[in-house]
Amino acid sequence: MFQGRSLLKEIDFTQAELAYLIDFAIHLKALKKQHIPHQYLAGKNIALLFEKTSTRTRAAFTVAANDLGAHPEFLGPNDVQFGKKESTADTAKVLGAMFDGIQFRGFKQTDVEILAAESGVPVWNGLTDTWHPTQMLADFMTIKEIFGDYTGKNLVYVGDGRNNMANSLLVTAATLGANITILAPADLQPAPEIQAIAAEKAAQSGSHITITADTAAVNGADIIYTDVWVSMGEEDQYAERIEKLMPYQVNAALFAKTENPDCIFMHCLPAFHDLETTTMQALHAKSGLTELEVTDEIFNSPNSVVFQEAENRLHSIKAVMAATLGHLFIPKV
Ligand code: CP
Ligand code: NVA
Repeated sequence: MFQGRSLLKEIDFTQAELAYLIDFAIHLKALKKQHIPHQYLAGKNIALLFEKTSTRTRAAFTVAANDLGAHPEFLGPNDVQFGKKESTADTAKVLGAMFDGIQFRGFKQTDVEILAAESGVPVWNGLTDTWHPTQMLADFMTIKEIFGDYTGKNLVYVGDGRNNMANSLLVTAATLGANITILAPADLQPAPEIQAIAAEKAAQSGSHITITADTAAVNGADIIYTDVWVSMGEEDQYAERIEKLMPYQVNAALFAKTENPDCIFMHCLPAFHDLETTTMQALHAKSGLTELEVTDEIFNSPNSVVFQEAENRLHSIKAVMAATLGHLFIPKV
């Protein structure tokens, strides 16, 4: 039963429920490609509350809402009273009285939990400092499209092993039965409480978990995944992170260590792979670096599926919104 539920973190849903949402997303992608209408949310209003910037998540929620026949309304950090003049709980009560569903992207996981508890409508987490659950649906959808299944696949996440993406990939892979390696320096590895959640899920699914600082662990990988070294809100930490994470850059030498020519490259994006951003231009002026977490060679290689992954944000977010707000007949999963 999905109706009326929120997606605040991956463990809100069972293995079977996550698998259903991924398959539903694949179905909705096929409907869209064939121009078959799917206006399951006609007449609904959706609030898109953003504390942090976004391209994919904002675009995906907006287009998904429109495709479903709903009206999305963007409420950005400079538009609303949230945080500065009004508490999360008061904001939740106001938005819940007017909107049928709320997307939240921000800093604190507690904020998205309060929004869900106080608004009375489904709330979808579009990224917090701790989790990025809608990204997970797109990522495992992409893996399923490419390999036919994610069960038993070897996913190696390389880089900042204690950010939202590492947390989410670790717990979601463990839930879905994919093998997951977090490859990161010792002081950037997942927090013990996140590792404990993943271990419990892996015991049920048969997933193998490896947490290591040794780059030899990429051997046998089906998927190499990385993310930015400095997440939103941590912008004062570039120098320290670059020093720690440069040995973990996803480049041709690291990719060769997989010894798997069919290994794919994934990244939630945005990525620092060239000098086409002002952030990289400023870093280049100071350090001479031209790329950070992934080289341009790997980012643009035939093994890279990053733009298929980005498109799938739309279809997977649509699946979550339709399943939780669409009064659909969904067989018990
Ligand atoms: N991957 C992702 O969440 O992208 P945005 O920050 O652009 O939404
Ligand atoms: N870890 C990144 C993910 C962006 C989609 C961040 O939080 O900035």
